[in-house]
Amino acid sequence: MQLHPQKHHQTYITNYNKAIEQLDDAITKGDASTVVKLQSTIKFNGEGHVNHSIFWKNLTPTSEGGGEPPHGSLGLAINQSFSSVEKLIAKMNTKGAAVQGSGWVWLAVDKELKRLVVETTSNQDPLVTKGPSLVPLLGIDVSEHAYYLQYKNVRPDYLKNIWKVINWKYASEVYEKECP
Ligand SMILES: [Fe+2]
Repeated sequence: MQLHPQKHHQTYITNYNKAIEQLDDAITKGDASTVVKLQSTIKFNGEGHVNHSIFWKNLTPTSEGGGEPPHGSLGLAINQSFSSVEKLIAKMNTKGAAVQGSGWVWLAVDKELKRLVVETTSNQDPLVTKGPSLVPLLGIDVSEHAYYLQYKNVRPDYLKNIWKVINWKYASEVYEKECP
């Protein structure tokens, strides 16, 4: 789990900063075609940084409460929407396993409709691309770089085990803020 933040996440930040510098330079030179070309690099790496920043907040060691199921209003909302935490986990694992290539599986709250939803996104697309009122409670990286060291290419095993270190307390705090 150290390689992921130190290498992969850092690469998004490094590439983002590099592209911003190049953008500055291109703007100064009036080089419009480079400005246009850099936009997708900035978007991809910036979104990668945002998604991974959420992901680290979603994880915590078992000794610090990782995997302890949510209580309070989030626990109740999960039971209402998905019958149980176990059923929600099964749904997220199925959807996460079905993402083709890199991507994310999310538990989100629709802050307008005040309801929980499970969504997936491709590559580093942020959750907001699936709806402007969606706020991420949990985002799980299903890209191969998230699990290849421990689980080789077996994404379902990674998804099965990640719940042991999920920080439900953080998810509950975000939920209570969005749905007081
Ligand atoms: Fe990642």
